[in-house]
Amino acid sequence: MHEVSGTANFSIMKIAFTGKGGSGKSTLAALFVGHLRAAGHRVLAVDADVNVHLAPLLGVTAESGAALSHPDNAAAVRRHLLGDNTLIGGPDRFVATTPPGPGSHLVTLDPADPVLTGHAVALDPATHVMHVGTYEAENIGNGCYHGHLAILENLLSHLNPADGDWVVCDMVAGTDAFANSLHAQFDAIAVVVEPTPESVTVARRYRELAVAAGVDDLLLLVGNKVTDEADRDYLRRELGTDPLTALTLQTGLRRARQSGRAPSPTDLDDATPLRLIASRVRPVPHSRREARLRELHLKLATKTWVKATHGDVTTQLAPATA
Ligand SMILES: Nc1ncnc2c1ncn2[C@@H]1O[C@H](COP(=O)(O)OP(=O)(O)O)[C@@H](O)[C@H]1O
Ligand SMILES: [Mg+2]
Repeated sequence: MHEVSGTANFSIMKIAFTGKGGSGKSTLAALFVGHLRAAGHRVLAVDADVNVHLAPLLGVTAESGAALSHPDNAAAVRRHLLGDNTLIGGPDRFVATTPPGPGSHLVTLDPADPVLTGHAVALDPATHVMHVGTYEAENIGNGCYHGHLAILENLLSHLNPADGDWVVCDMVAGTDAFANSLHAQFDAIAVVVEPTPESVTVARRYRELAVAAGVDDLLLLVGNKVTDEADRDYLRRELGTDPLTALTLQTGLRRARQSGRAPSPTDLDDATPLRLIASRVRPVPHSRREARLRELHLKLATKTWVKATHGDVTTQLAPATA
């Protein structure tokens, strides 16, 4: 069990894959997980889409009862995270932005970690897969529309750093990553964009939201299904910049899917885009993340529904370490 140290250096890399539906988020997330595994990293893959696609792409059957947002699972995870932290006031007082504090249990990618053994499927001792699922019906009663993602935020904020570990999240299509404080949890947000008007419109919208949220420096634009120079020109013109990298339309991937196989980096004619993505992710400095999350927590604390259901959550903040 690991306790929070005041000088924690969160060097674990957390990347989210976002973009329009059908752009290739789940495919790229699955390929990226495959790339990291092959490179010898420990990986936690999190399927945060309400339509669970990443888990099956990694060969995992996602049972709805095993979803992290299932009330029983979310409660069990929060009880564990709480540990002996007296600032939070109990497992049912967690909000999305509740930070770890003295006595909190942090989650590691050690295969014996209780959160992994209880709530993830191990593909091998170094690779675990979780799915968040959705239980919005219950959450709407709580006045919290994005409630199903709050447990993901709790998990991400309570991860214990270990050099070389990665968390790869496949996000829901749409702007959920910006609707709460999720964006502040990641070190990189890959925006997967096809050379189509619909896809670039969504990518531009993400960029606007990222600018507003102060995380535009974390965005990595990743072109997908790019076939020729005209596609590249289109993306450059419409996005006002070249994407970091672009994956072409991959016949090997299509054959894999048609034969029911999980996509693998070995299906690609060139895995350079995956290497480029990995090489561009830098850990967000702990002080920056902590300051941002404190700010978001204090903002959430002023909401009427938070006060009504959780009371005063400002007391959950430990003195700043930054
Ligand atoms: N570069 C590519 N080449 C060929 N097919 C692709 C490529 N990227 C994605 N696909 C296919 O496109 C479809 C949509 O991809 P998916 O990853 O499910 O999108 P999303 O998660 O964004 O909704 C899938 O059938 C996937 O296999
Ligand atoms: Mg998907």
